[in-house]
Order: sequence, then C-alpha cells, then structure tokens
Amino acid sequence: MLANKEKRLDGQQENALIEAATAVRERAYVPYSGFAVGAALLDEAGQIVGGCNVENVSYGLSSCAERNAIFAAVGQGARRVVAVAVVTGAETPTPPCGACRQVLLEFAANDDMDVVMATTAGARRTTHLSALLPESFASFKPDNPR
Ligand code: THU
Repeated sequence: MLANKEKRLDGQQENALIEAATAVRERAYVPYSGFAVGAALLDEAGQIVGGCNVENVSYGLSSCAERNAIFAAVGQGARRVVAVAVVTGAETPTPPCGACRQVLLEFAANDDMDVVMATTAGARRTTHLSALLPESFASFKPDNPR
C-alpha cells in the first residue's frame, strides 16, 4: 500500500527538524493539560514549518501540534511533506494521535513520511507514517487518488 519505507531524512535534517519542533513547543498554549507539544514538518522544497498544540476551555476544541503544523504549512504552499518531528517533555517519545496520523497522510509525499519523535531530555525514535497508520483510508475513488 504505502510504498516508500526507506528513511529519507539525513542526520542533519533530523536535527534541524527536532530543533524547530523544540523551539515552537515553547509557544504551546496548554493551560488545561500542561502537556506542551511541538511539531515541525519538512516539505519536498526543503521548507520547515512548525506548529504547537493550542487548547481551549471547551476541551474538545483543542488542536494538536501536528495538525496545526500541517495547516500552517499548507497555507505556506506546502503540499508534499516528507517528514515530521514531534517533541514533548514526556519520559518516552510521543507518537502522533490517530487523528493527526490521518491528517498527516493527506499531505504525505509518496503516501509516506518519516516520523521522528523526540523528548526534551534527548530520547529519540524514528518510524514511518505507514507503520503508524496501516491499511489507511486514502481515497474513495479507486481510479483517482484523493
Ligand atoms: N497532543 C498533541 O499536540 N499531539 C499529540 O500527538 C498528542 C496530544 C496534545 C493535545 C492536548 O493539547 C495535549 O497534547 C494533551 O493531550
């Protein structure tokens, strides 16, 4: 289904993405959970775009860092994202939630992307969207992707 499972990020790009996600995490608005998340995307043109989680007193209106990063990136012209980094202060690296996985897939170059998870303490884990979202819903038109 999802073709490219090879790691496409080099170490330098991975570091740059984690740095961007760490920086934008500082802007997270998390008065309810206290759980700040930063995400940064790398698109095919080499553009890096970040997003942080923004919560609301009406809890269900809160929005995750990954989705905010995607929506910001689309507004900046991105359509094909090759990697996402997610940074949290958790003990172990935090994978994107299910809703964010689906939204990431919408803009995944070649229907896959590297997912780099890091903690502020320095733990790292890298996987792929195709591993996190197997048998995904990517189209309702068999002859016309999305
Ligand atoms: N959150 C994210 O921003 N990304 C994730 O992948 C997991 C959860 C946010 C949503 C909420 O603001 C807080 O973390 C606690 O769930």
